Amino acid sequence: MAASMAGGGAGVARCLLRGASRGLQLAPARGFCVAGPSGSQAQEEEPCPAEPVGAMVNVVFIDRSGHRIPVQGRVGDNVLHLAQRHGIELEGACEASLACSTCHVYVKEAFVDKLPIPDEREEDMLDMAPLLQENSRLGCQIILTPELEGAEFTLPKITRNFYVDGHVPKPH
Ligand code: FES
Repeated sequence: MAASMAGGGAGVARCLLRGASRGLQLAPARGFCVAGPSGSQAQEEEPCPAEPVGAMVNVVFIDRSGHRIPVQGRVGDNVLHLAQRHGIELEGACEASLACSTCHVYVKEAFVDKLPIPDEREEDMLDMAPLLQENSRLGCQIILTPELEGAEFTLPKITRNFYVDGHVPKPH
């Protein structure tokens, strides 16, 4: 009994990891688990009973032109990566390693307190962001939670070392 529960737990973990890696491509009803020992030929995909119901979170990005772009993410999604998956021009030059401020967003005031307070490294990077506001955060440090349902993330008009007022550099 305990062994089967432990195996189920591992299956659930693999399922959750796979779901997270697939991001928006799977609706909860279409999730799959990998059954069988890890790495074995016997692994099969089966419907995932542990896929959390209601794990989707609706948020809105407001781009540099003021256009509202509603998107749906999953609990656990990184806001920078969510934006990039939807073609929203949030640069993320350092790929979420807290070494730039190009993922700077303004969080709708009602949701600021629903986020963990920024750590010192995030604060240091934010200090270098132009047009800093009280509700400024780094998008790559925001992880979707159910409490962020309805949150809005506004892109500032300027990011450092990037484009200004909506101008997008064209590839050469
Ligand atoms: S992508 Fe560089 S700090 Fe967020």
